Amino acid sequence: MDYISAKEAAKKWGVTQRRVAVLCSENRIDGAELIGKMWLIPKTARKPEDGRTMRFEPPSDMAVKPFLKWAGGKSQILNEIRSKYPSKLGTDITKYAEPFVGGGAVLFDILSNYEMKEIYISDINHELIQTYITIRDDVKELISLLKNIEIRYLAANDGVRKEIYYSARDRFNFLKSVGNKSTEVAALFIFLNRTCFNGLYRVNSHGAFNVPQGVYKNPTICNEKNLLAVSEKLYGVKIVCADYSESRYFIDNKTFVYFDPPYRPITITASFTSYTENGFNDKEQAKLAAFINELSECGASIVASNSDPKNTNINDNFFDNLYAQHEIIRIYASRAINSIGSARGKVSELLIANV
Ligand SMILES: C[S@@+](CC[C@H](N)C(=O)[O-])C[C@H]1O[C@@H](n2cnc3c(N)ncnc32)[C@H](O)[C@@H]1O
Repeated sequence: MDYISAKEAAKKWGVTQRRVAVLCSENRIDGAELIGKMWLIPKTARKPEDGRTMRFEPPSDMAVKPFLKWAGGKSQILNEIRSKYPSKLGTDITKYAEPFVGGGAVLFDILSNYEMKEIYISDINHELIQTYITIRDDVKELISLLKNIEIRYLAANDGVRKEIYYSARDRFNFLKSVGNKSTEVAALFIFLNRTCFNGLYRVNSHGAFNVPQGVYKNPTICNEKNLLAVSEKLYGVKIVCADYSESRYFIDNKTFVYFDPPYRPITITASFTSYTENGFNDKEQAKLAAFINELSECGASIVASNSDPKNTNINDNFFDNLYAQHEIIRIYASRAINSIGSARGKVSELLIANV
């Protein structure tokens, strides 16, 4: 029998080499043989029918949810955002883009409930995007690494937990500093997110993640069921580490786009824009508004979120001016990070919609 390598099969079937190896190890390719560390695939083998090609159909199985805690996560205002989805989502509007994906609360709602032909997500945070890619392409190994660290962490006393956390943080920062893109980076990213203080992602001026350990008695580090379901749903999704402006090539009049940029701080002390090494100031907000307005003129359906400057200054019309041509809705959310000094609790924030 003639054989081809996993690399050749990957090219032929339009999947990653890693995916071919997973299919082989799951015995889903007749006649595939493991020689040393290499898979050999019969030349005549056909790409196995993949359950994951059902990915954009409304799930008969479980809905997916964010696998991270993420500052500015949209789970609590999802109902309000949903009410602004275009009515033809999943029928005439067949594409979805989320250029500031973060923890992806809206993405997972769309993946759980709509049939989309193409999906594009991006974020400027390399390790976050690497984690999405790893969940899509290598979820089994990721789960095995996460389970390992979860077992060690949960069984340990406070002192040992502290050691595990800080050595994982050091290891993550080392791998980050050398641009390592392995599955280990994704496992460390999820572990740190689930066990650090408030699930924050903050880096210092050298780009090193510097959030201290959080105090959780029983953190869920590896939600295997959800990770597997997320992996299925992410199959075929374009996952890109890039500035939001690079989504331009994907977006057209059949696309629904949700923009959730770093919020404009409503007070100086409420500033929390350092998700990555780059800030997001007023000039950036204005540039983004121009980008959104241009896409809107090209027929894309758009919803965007931001903070409401009127929480602290009723005369501040910054966003009302930038988005004058769209509908601006004020909704209420509890925001610990954006809280106004002592007045912690609900603050209004903006939903901007052209649909
Ligand atoms: C408010 S958070 C998104 C939260 C997300 N919607 C959720 O539910 O978790 C903003 C995200 O924008 C990303 N970001 C910041 N500047 C960016 C840029 N220029 N282009 C793309 N992403 C950017 C940050 O890394 C962060 O993940």
